[in-house]
Amino acid sequence: MKKMFLCFLVTAGLFACGGSSDSNSGSASTEIKDVTDDPAFVAGRDLVNKSGCFACHKVDETSIGPAYRKVAEKYANTPENISTLAGKVIKGGSGNWGTVPMTAHPALSPEDAATMVKYVLMLKK
Ligand code: HEC
Repeated sequence: MKKMFLCFLVTAGLFACGGSSDSNSGSASTEIKDVTDDPAFVAGRDLVNKSGCFACHKVDETSIGPAYRKVAEKYANTPENISTLAGKVIKGGSGNWGTVPMTAHPALSPEDAATMVKYVLMLKK
């Protein structure tokens, strides 16, 4: 059962990064060449996968919610923005991107929400 879940995560992770992981395979270096090698990015992406955020968000396209890349362009990656956005993920938000509100996610811890927001803000090109 646990194995199946892991499988799902891996598949979902591959889907989410759209095949951009090809250049990293087989590298033993600890140097961060690419944001997708950053452990903070990977941890955030896994949590976003597990938390169902991709039901409403895509990385590059507007879905029910704004594309994460657009969110990253709108907000600088600062501790203030991370805590504000993490608060919105937990409490829900509306009016910043359109008329559709984001549902609240009260079960998330502030730490997990911040981890996910950090991942989103790292998507800036
Ligand atoms: C039910 C659909 C839905 C789900 C599930 C969802 N979102 Fe959203 N999200 C939205 C919508 C719609 C907006 C735009 C809200 C607005 O206009 O302020 C949004 C906005 C955001 C923003 C930008 C907030 C702002 O004020 O600019 C972030 C960051 C975000 N979502 C992260 C997440 C994360 C992380 C998760 C998973 C825990 C998640 N979302 C799950 C629909 C959703």
